[in-house]
Amino acid sequence: MRSLLFVPGDSQKKLEKAFGAGADVVIVDLEDSIAPQNKALARDTAARFITEQWHQTKSAIYVRVNDLSTGLTDDDLAALVPAGPDGIMLPKSNSGQDVQHLSAKLRVHEAENDLPDGAIKILPIITETAAGVLAAATYANVGARLVGVTWGAEDLSAAVGARAARDENGRYTDVFRFARTMTVLAAGAAEVAAIDTIFPNFRDMAAFEAECAEAERDGFTGKMAIHPTQVPVINTAFTPSTEAVKHSAALVAAFEAAGNPGVVGIDGKMYDRPHLRLAERLLARARAAGIST
Ligand code: COA
Ligand code: MG
Repeated sequence: MRSLLFVPGDSQKKLEKAFGAGADVVIVDLEDSIAPQNKALARDTAARFITEQWHQTKSAIYVRVNDLSTGLTDDDLAALVPAGPDGIMLPKSNSGQDVQHLSAKLRVHEAENDLPDGAIKILPIITETAAGVLAAATYANVGARLVGVTWGAEDLSAAVGARAARDENGRYTDVFRFARTMTVLAAGAAEVAAIDTIFPNFRDMAAFEAECAEAERDGFTGKMAIHPTQVPVINTAFTPSTEAVKHSAALVAAFEAAGNPGVVGIDGKMYDRPHLRLAERLLARARAAGIST
């Protein structure tokens, strides 16, 4: 799960484009990109499109439903689960309890649609409310549906009354860096994927590339996109390089050859267990991206 491309669920034309964009995941949106009066239309359009076209794309298909406080979530699920999405994105999640709540709902919908129990995964956005940011630790042990956690700055700005999320140099201010940090830590604690948030200036590819590189450096394993042109940039940034794969494979081999000790020396440098763990994680990511290791 490197690239996750958002597409408004009420646009047949954009849905077609999104399915061919080469994203690991397409997130069909029923929430903030859909006007309140268009929710029903978006459900119908999205459900019909996914049902008819899912086999035409290699992307996994997730649906972003409206959050649990809106009263719209049940109708979203009733309309979309029959289309057989791979996962549900839960916005404005306040804690791990919200994931469990959604999980209970999904269980019923899966049973009603003859889908295996647990077939549909959950990806919550965990920083869209102030309470959500503070509850980041509660996503550990919420169950096997949790595939990852991600974050968002727009709704958090509104929640805390911040006039801007970034300073004059384009760097996130403290509240937002904290939310971003909590996302990486929550993912680490829950042992799921850490997915970085969107970058809204979709014409500024240089800044986008820089943000992808920083996210990959900091432990994120994927990033959300709002425009098809962002997808290949994300896929490149989050695919381990040939050198990194070679180095990690050599490190794993060196530990094996030495009888799996605590520490080895390679080319005059010390490597211990955390280095081994990091190398194994990188190789797993490479394999998930289709690279043989
Ligand atoms: N998925 C699929 N197709 C998309 C797309 C997306 N996310 N974003 C743009 N496109 C299509 C456009 O429809 C256009 O198609 P066309 O050439 O057939 O007309 C083409 O890509 C080029 O788009 P462009 O003109 O550069 O942008 P735009 O002004 O049409 O759209 C946005 C800009 C922001 C409205 C659009 O990118 C978008 O809807 N993004 C997703 C928004 C969203 O889902 N937000 C919720 C999560 S934050
Ligand atoms: Mg939002």
